[in-house]
Amino acid sequence: MAPLARIALLNIKGPARALLCAQSQSIQNNCCKTITSQQVFDRESKYGAHNYHPLPVALCKAQGVFMWDVEGKRYFDFMSAYSAVNQGHCHPRIYKVMVDQAKILTLTSRAFYSNVLGEFEEYITKLFGYDKWLPMNTGVEGGETACKLARKWGYSSKNIPQNQAKIVFAEGNFWGRTMSAVSSSTDPTSYSGFGPFMPGFEVIPYDDLAALQQALTDPTVCAFMVEPIQGEAGVVVPKEGYLRGIRELCTKHNVLWIADEVQTGLARTGKRLAVDHENVKPDILILGKALSGGFYPVSGVLANDPVMLVIKPGEHGSTYGGNPLACKVALESLHVLEEEKLAENAEKLGHVLRNELNKLPKEVVTLVRGKGLLNAIVINKKLDAMNVCLKMKEHGLLAKPTHGHIIRLAPPLVITEDQIRECADIISRTILTY
Ligand SMILES: Cc1ncc(COP(=O)(O)O)c(C=O)c1O
Repeated sequence: MAPLARIALLNIKGPARALLCAQSQSIQNNCCKTITSQQVFDRESKYGAHNYHPLPVALCKAQGVFMWDVEGKRYFDFMSAYSAVNQGHCHPRIYKVMVDQAKILTLTSRAFYSNVLGEFEEYITKLFGYDKWLPMNTGVEGGETACKLARKWGYSSKNIPQNQAKIVFAEGNFWGRTMSAVSSSTDPTSYSGFGPFMPGFEVIPYDDLAALQQALTDPTVCAFMVEPIQGEAGVVVPKEGYLRGIRELCTKHNVLWIADEVQTGLARTGKRLAVDHENVKPDILILGKALSGGFYPVSGVLANDPVMLVIKPGEHGSTYGGNPLACKVALESLHVLEEEKLAENAEKLGHVLRNELNKLPKEVVTLVRGKGLLNAIVINKKLDAMNVCLKMKEHGLLAKPTHGHIIRLAPPLVITEDQIRECADIISRTILTY
């Protein structure tokens, strides 16, 4: 079987499979050699803002678990666009739905109804068991929406005196780059130089129920916002019982629990949601990233009526939020996650990956952690994580350090067992020969 035909074809059958095979063939026949990698780097550096420090690889195509650079070299993708491409790159079913909808109706704005928004809202609310959905575009807008809902609820339902509502966050949080998001950040790279900051935000240690108990005794606290596993902080997995403890404390103190599942949600950690690992339900759930399978920015929040209905017409919104194209893409992206059983695949292959990586000597890889296919290795501080990633790139696997000596390993969830073993082998060989 040609390498491209080994793209994960989990449960893809009939016309979709034929389409995928045709696409794969055309990638093989059509390498994008019109520009060199160096030219790509130089042009971006000259004309683009320098707000990222990418790995030096210039990609021009992707399919399933693979990406190709402009010289035609193939890589396993172990980033999945920060977990946005859980369904695999350019999934043929999502692609088809997107193209079909793009021919009919793309944007109405919320000044008018469309025939698609309600269809999506009905599906997503029933799937996750909430009364209502509020659509946005990027993950950070989902976080902003959750904060606004929580403050408004604090004033209208908890009777917090006007302009005194507080939201509690956890150290190491990451939820984007807006002023609110950096105001809650404890990472100097995120917040330094951007003050003054949003008032009414308080930060407590992560994975610390005693600190949460203490913070929530303040009657002006309206919400606690937290990632069930901290992604950008380096895939920090809290102790078993943390999520249950949050649920109990928030209920006890009449505080809303906001779960930021923008990165951990949608099958990434081996369950539909990371909170499902402890069978608990947040009051406000933020989703984004893989909600569109990498095709289009789609995000939003789920909540029940007593929270969602505190926001009245005109008080919040977005021109693109809930547009028909986004809704169709998101609907199909959720169908793919469910029908291809990607949570189950992530759960199973996460164990395989961690087992393989745990065989590495502890002096080199000091820790392997994660859930499902959201994983990280902590490497010895004497090794330079960026250089390790550059070596892995040479061996055909793309990953990036999160913080100094931590490397996040998060492939698309359509990866197969043979492929994950091959990747574990690439990572191990790279580290052992570094
Ligand atoms: C947990 C979490 N929340 C929110 C965001 C922000 O998402 P976006 O970049 O789409 O605004 C991110 C991005 O990495 C994230 O990891």
